[in-house]
Amino acid sequence: MKLPVILVNFKVYENAVGEAAVSLAKIHEKVASETGANIAIAVNAIDLAAVCKAVSIPVFAQHVDNLEYGSGTGSVVPDLVKKCGAYGALLNHAEKPVSDDVLKESIRLAKEAGLFVVVCADTPERAKEILPYGPDLLAVEPPELIGGDISVSKAEADIIKRAVQYIGDDKVLVGAGVKDAEDVRLAVEFGASGVLLASGVTKSSDPEAVLRDLVSGLN
Ligand code: G3P
Repeated sequence: MKLPVILVNFKVYENAVGEAAVSLAKIHEKVASETGANIAIAVNAIDLAAVCKAVSIPVFAQHVDNLEYGSGTGSVVPDLVKKCGAYGALLNHAEKPVSDDVLKESIRLAKEAGLFVVVCADTPERAKEILPYGPDLLAVEPPELIGGDISVSKAEADIIKRAVQYIGDDKVLVGAGVKDAEDVRLAVEFGASGVLLASGVTKSSDPEAVLRDLVSGLN
């Protein structure tokens, strides 16, 4: 995936699911194409196929399970996610944590399916433990800042620097509370390869303006 990237997780915010997910995805695609910035999105499993059909920017599943085809009612099969047209998968998000054994197997199956794998971790130390499992990127998000107004970039510069020191400067995204260009600029200045965010875009009444501001922080 081209870096630095702004990866927007739609979560299951009401205005970022169903038909609204497709509309919001098209706004991301428009800003990416008009600015040249690398923008990716993560959508829920129900909307994945429709969103992948509608846009050409990288689309991630918000979660995949450690299962192949067969019995496994309700599961998100990595190979099916790939066949829907997804570019990658998020794993172990703070809101969808998995055990270590499940994580290792999920990463293996997701990569075998050809998905680009971003694994979330709550601390740089935890990210360092996960690194040998083979993710493509690690996204470090202090859980207490998720969904809030204080950004990891402004409040926890040390977390970003430690993550980059442990993991390397081409493998770290940071997130939690990221809202504006300054948050993006600081994250990149501290060595991150991009940001993972949600509410700053999904809860905005003008997501296009927010996205244009965010990408200006990459320059
Ligand atoms: O997946 C991104 C996320 O957990 C951060 O959420 O709302 O703090 O940008 P938010």
